[in-house]
Amino acid sequence: MSTQPMTRQAEESVRTVSLPVGISGHDLKEVTREIPIDEPPPLAPNEELAVIGKPIPRHDARAKVTGAARFTVDVALPGMLYGRILRSPLPHARVRAIDVSAATGHRDVRAVVEVARPDDASASILRYVGAPVAAVAAVSMAAAEEAAKLIRVDYEPLPFVVDLNEARAPDAPRVFDAASAPAGSPSGYPAPAGLALQGNVRGPAVVRRGEVSSGFAQADVLVEEEYSTQVQTHCCLEPHAIVADWRADGLTVYMSTQYTAGLRHELAEAFGLPLSRVRVIVEAMGGGFGSKSTLGNYGRVAVRLSQQAHAPVRVALDRSEEQTDAGNRPATWQRIRLGARRDGSLTAISLSSYGTAGVALGAGVWSTAESMYTCPNFEGAQHDVFTNAGPGCAMRAPGAVPGAWGLEQAVDELAERLAIDPLALRDRIDPSPVRREERRIGAERIGWSGRHAPGAEGGPIKRGIGVAQSLWYSNVQINASCEVRVLRDGSVEVRSGVQDIGTGTGTVLAQVVAEVLGLAPSSINLRIGDTEYPAGPPSYGSRATASITPPARTAAWRVLQALYREAAPLLEASPAELVASAGRIAVRSDSTRSIAFADAAARLRTDFLSAVASRADDYDGFRRRMGDAAIARQDLGGVQFAQVAVDTETGIVRVERVVAVQDCGRPINPRQIESQVQGGVLMGMSFALLEDRVLDRRSGRMLNANLEQYKLAGSCDIPQIDVIVLESYRGTSATDAYGIAEPSNIATAPAIGNAVYNALGVRIRSLPMTPAAMLAALGKVPKGPAES
Ligand code: MOS
Repeated sequence: MSTQPMTRQAEESVRTVSLPVGISGHDLKEVTREIPIDEPPPLAPNEELAVIGKPIPRHDARAKVTGAARFTVDVALPGMLYGRILRSPLPHARVRAIDVSAATGHRDVRAVVEVARPDDASASILRYVGAPVAAVAAVSMAAAEEAAKLIRVDYEPLPFVVDLNEARAPDAPRVFDAASAPAGSPSGYPAPAGLALQGNVRGPAVVRRGEVSSGFAQADVLVEEEYSTQVQTHCCLEPHAIVADWRADGLTVYMSTQYTAGLRHELAEAFGLPLSRVRVIVEAMGGGFGSKSTLGNYGRVAVRLSQQAHAPVRVALDRSEEQTDAGNRPATWQRIRLGARRDGSLTAISLSSYGTAGVALGAGVWSTAESMYTCPNFEGAQHDVFTNAGPGCAMRAPGAVPGAWGLEQAVDELAERLAIDPLALRDRIDPSPVRREERRIGAERIGWSGRHAPGAEGGPIKRGIGVAQSLWYSNVQINASCEVRVLRDGSVEVRSGVQDIGTGTGTVLAQVVAEVLGLAPSSINLRIGDTEYPAGPPSYGSRATASITPPARTAAWRVLQALYREAAPLLEASPAELVASAGRIAVRSDSTRSIAFADAAARLRTDFLSAVASRADDYDGFRRRMGDAAIARQDLGGVQFAQVAVDTETGIVRVERVVAVQDCGRPINPRQIESQVQGGVLMGMSFALLEDRVLDRRSGRMLNANLEQYKLAGSCDIPQIDVIVLESYRGTSATDAYGIAEPSNIATAPAIGNAVYNALGVRIRSLPMTPAAMLAALGKVPKGPAES
């Protein structure tokens, strides 16, 4: 046995390689990095690849359009029961007593659970209309519905407040006392634990850099304005649903979830089970947007019902439950001050915000104002305000969407005050070379040079063009693993717990593995969305592709090395001389010496070869690491241009065109990315013009808890959307791929706001821009109570 000096071993654990970095077609160059020896070699730019970067159709397209795809509500287990939740009709009440005897006695009922508990000081309080009170499981939906109505509840009504501004008043009814208030917010929000609660106002969470007072003193020009945004609900096409199957040997949960691995932990903890006895499965999903990140109160109820009934139980929320108790994007108000010198350079930014996530925390406007532009002096003070409304939760670029609505209009206002073109101003204050290129490309596409002065058009219908941009973090989940198997008949399986939320995660996995093995992506069998496979990353924080494609490529590469070792003797070559492409394994220097991939697999000594890989650190490290999650060094950009036509007689704003220029590192599937960006733009447009959760101040009820009066953009509202995706290489991982979901949703509303200003010469700072709000802003009708 020979021993080698330690230094030699350390040297051999990495190798030096060169990777492409920069923007394809613009400034692509090579960078040298050291990468671990057990990681695959660098990937060439997309144009040199066979499958990665190609706009192939998603693997489940046919199943989705023919109805063959199995969503959670399609799961029907033998003996399955139907759960129904009784919900609070009052926005604030103490439950004095619950009588479930009539429900329990119903002949079709198999289980009843009480969620509110009259004997418990905190669990007896209901704080919003729609809060769960009790639940039943019965043999049919109709019976469950009927039985839920038999539950008698004695409510003591308590004073309540549902409006953000009213809730801020010192004498407003209290939603929580200090002991009962939630302690912290979802990670990353500007509402850390330990902030003071005064009345209903929690915070501020303060962030400081430099000294804003001296910064403002140096400014030649100031902008100080207030912006506000409304509550938007997630409106997933597929409602929240779970089938819980509690058995003596463990718990299996079928759930429309953004995070199978996280849900498994949550369930194990909540029900005192070992992880090995909890299994989570999700096949097809119709969106989540942040609202399906956790177990949720309905999920907990379903498991309890199943445990009690000794039978599987399905709970699926209806649209009213979706709208009132499945999460929402918090309403916000913010005041932004910008100070700048004549040349546009920023001297100070201050931000003060108040937002409400109802009974939850996390209503900040994020850190866009702190981070997007170069400015030595910043001060942010963000507050959460409790109201008697259903809990908000993360929603597609949480905080950044309202944050950009304020900041990006304020920058537009600053440009006008400085008499500098808004793009030229951003070229001066935005340090991102990626966004600079995105501005250049987008300006050309939208025809920015032909833009007129604000309100310069005559006639009742006025057109305008506006621009806004985004900053989002490149999130990565370290705890993200993938197994690749090559079977003896030459077929290939990809196995990971990662779920496909509907964006095409399965398809990008197939592409990455197919590229390595030299096979067609359609031949790769996907085994995903099940915790029986290695733990996958969450489909939130725009991190699924960034987290799971590098281990997928690494696992495929390792399996291929093993297959090369089997094939090498047959080809009278060494494993290092072999390449896999077009379904064959060949000697690199002599392609006449080759063997079909399947023939090589047929020689395996065992039924399959397998390799498992997990997400390695980025080659250049991470900017920040928090437990299982990390943030890559380089941020995501994105610049969007909107063209609008405002009918000044009806107040209707029509978005005619959006040009969205986005980046996500290396694009894996341009067709799916385009689809994602279109979705982000539509969601942003719908938020800007239409969507609004209306709570009745007198009853606390949501007046439009459906999809009819809660207006979403429909097919007739859809503008022409030009999506341009940069190939932005970073040379940081086995695939160099990052996210697109959230960044595509941030810039749309402020781009529309800036376009409306360009059309009219009138600034709208409060969303949504409904016809009534537009006519009020144009001075054509008196302002309503909401605007006064
Ligand atoms: Mo998203 S709000 O990270 O699902």
